[in-house]
Amino acid sequence: MSTAIVIAVDGPVAAGKGTLARRLAERLGLRHLDSGLLYRATAARLFESGGRPDDEAAAEAAARALNEDDLSRTNLRHESVGAAASVVAAIGGVRAALLEFQHRFAATPPGAVIDGRDIGTVVCPQAPVKLFVTAQAAERARRRYQELLARGESAQFEAILADLEERDLRDTTRAVAPLRPAEDAVVIDTTRLDADQALEAALAVVAERLKLSPDKAI
Ligand code: C5P
Repeated sequence: MSTAIVIAVDGPVAAGKGTLARRLAERLGLRHLDSGLLYRATAARLFESGGRPDDEAAAEAAARALNEDDLSRTNLRHESVGAAASVVAAIGGVRAALLEFQHRFAATPPGAVIDGRDIGTVVCPQAPVKLFVTAQAAERARRRYQELLARGESAQFEAILADLEERDLRDTTRAVAPLRPAEDAVVIDTTRLDADQALEAALAVVAERLKLSPDKAI
């Protein structure tokens, strides 16, 4: 039996789950995987080879060829890569190819905090702690807008909100692994929480859940 503990952190784009997952991992001494990077790196590889995100066979081949170095590519945070990532993420073959990487990561002691869309529902349904981090769409768009301005990029609030709503729709309605909270997930709405308050709320859930499963204690 694996001695690794997994904390699943799912939620829509720009809800604060990445920051929360990274800080939770630091605090608990676990490894952190941002699973969105796997889909972004797949899209980036595809662009590089001249493929289109809706070309299923090419997208699956890009996912199968992925290695750890691809996760540190510099262009992965770009908006166009994010939009293409959400298109390749709807392809079953791409998701299957990336599942193995995620399982290996999750099973490596001491364990991991993994953030994404389907970690609690598909990738690690046995995780003892599952969080679903969300916030109102306008607030998520506002955060993404501020983030882009802070990076010196040009940004238009209306365009960001429209893109975010389009991605929410694609992520929640796709046939394979749609975005939704696992039945035993605890929802944390960060609309009115800052990063420290979100971390406190998450740590309280972790303490409570691990008390219920002391054999899984860190
Ligand atoms: O989280 P991030 O915005 O980096 O993810 C990019 C895209 O990858 C998302 O819009 C989503 O479609 C997809 N994704 C997914 N499953 C995950 C993580 C990301 O489908 N576990």
